[in-house]
Amino acid sequence: MNLLKRVQTDKSASLYLATCSGCHGEKMNAFVDRKWKFGNSKEDLFKSIKNGHPNEGMPSFKAAFTDKEIYALADYILTGIKNVDQYTIDEKPSSSLFKTEKMSIRLDTVAKGMQIPWSIAFLPGKDMLVTDKVGKLYQITEDGSKKEITGVPEVVAEGQGGLMDVILDPSFATNKLIYLSYSKPKNSLATTAIMQAKLSGDRLTEQKDIFIAEPYSRTRHHYGSRMVFGRDGFLYFSVGERGNEKENPQEIKGNDLGKIHRIKTDGSPAPGNPFAKTPGAEASIYSYGHRNPQGLAVDPKTGVIWSNEHGPRGGDELNIIKPGQNYGWPVITYGINYDGKIMSPISAKEGMAQPQHYWIPSIATSGIAFVSGNKYPAWKDNILSGSLRFKYLNRSVMQNDKVTHEEILFKNIGRLRDVRMGPDGFIYIAVESPGTIYRLVPLPN
Ligand code: HEC
Repeated sequence: MNLLKRVQTDKSASLYLATCSGCHGEKMNAFVDRKWKFGNSKEDLFKSIKNGHPNEGMPSFKAAFTDKEIYALADYILTGIKNVDQYTIDEKPSSSLFKTEKMSIRLDTVAKGMQIPWSIAFLPGKDMLVTDKVGKLYQITEDGSKKEITGVPEVVAEGQGGLMDVILDPSFATNKLIYLSYSKPKNSLATTAIMQAKLSGDRLTEQKDIFIAEPYSRTRHHYGSRMVFGRDGFLYFSVGERGNEKENPQEIKGNDLGKIHRIKTDGSPAPGNPFAKTPGAEASIYSYGHRNPQGLAVDPKTGVIWSNEHGPRGGDELNIIKPGQNYGWPVITYGINYDGKIMSPISAKEGMAQPQHYWIPSIATSGIAFVSGNKYPAWKDNILSGSLRFKYLNRSVMQNDKVTHEEILFKNIGRLRDVRMGPDGFIYIAVESPGTIYRLVPLPN
């Protein structure tokens, strides 16, 4: 390669790493296996990068790069995918045994065969429910066999959407009710919705949408969709801002997007919600100014609700969720925009909550759990967060609600969608490619 060409390649490589890798992966793997949607000629790539595909979640880089830089990026990708050995990149760990800072862990496979397991809910007894983002719900038995549960809602399984979270009613033992969050279609639009249904053998009955977030959007990303029951017995759930940070997260009137809501199980707003008396405001809103929260959990010691959420490039956040609080998106953020431009010059403002912690670079958080019980004494009260981007489980050691230490667990295990404490005291994780549920079994170090 001549010198000029090499300089150009190095430049493209660093542009790619800084600007594209957050979504497409650090190596070219996303493009190697790609079924190209918009064509794979140099000209097609140029157009994709320059104009973006806003409805699919691909930003436009018109303002950020010159045409020459964009052509060089297209070249870089096309040359890159030819030279990449598909089977050596991003290698999965070859053993199920992991030595971690505090203990050794064996990952036992509980179930496999899903495509994108999004969420786990433990049934009384030893079975569990698992959603597959493509639009399926499974009941997994102790021996790992799975049966499909029919009667799930029709979903828009495109982009980041599909069948997402599943949780049980607090009185499931007597009423058999479950809740599913999903991407609900309307013509070419989609929104986040919550369905309540009864688990009757291997099918759902009495399905009822108890919440449909308004307005519907054309985009296919930032649905939020994590749910949790608070100690107050109300259902808390997140709705992402659907990629429209200008109109949604800061607007509490007639707008459910970029919010965390609190409702009764019949779908009506929980009594005492912070904006119930604000004229025009949505009475279900509990907090606002969110981007895309995909983790919600109750601290078992205090009952406080915590969330983790996707920031832009840099600036994923760990938050304590308080009623009426504004979490600041997009007015304040620690992140920068995907095209490298400053998102907001400020990261703090009066009246807007500061995160307990933020991740730069973004790890793309999904799922959150507090370590409790007595199986992992060295991790007690730590917070676990899934990382989609770096395909690992993040362990945060907490002190006075701040993160004092972090550890990366099971690097490259796969895009990690969910992490849960099981009723048996073990931690469970849901991982993609191939879709697998693992149990974390602690071993003497
Ligand atoms: C915010 C996440 C994000 C960032 C940042 C991003 N992309 Fe994308 N890109 C997407 C999504 C989502 C798509 C839509 C296709 C899909 O569903 O995978 C896409 C599509 C594309 C396509 C078209 C692929 C096809 O199937 O035809 C190209 C080429 C591309 N991106 C290149 C880039 C390059 C180069 C950069 C960096 C300058 C970049 N992207 C940055 C999310 C992103």
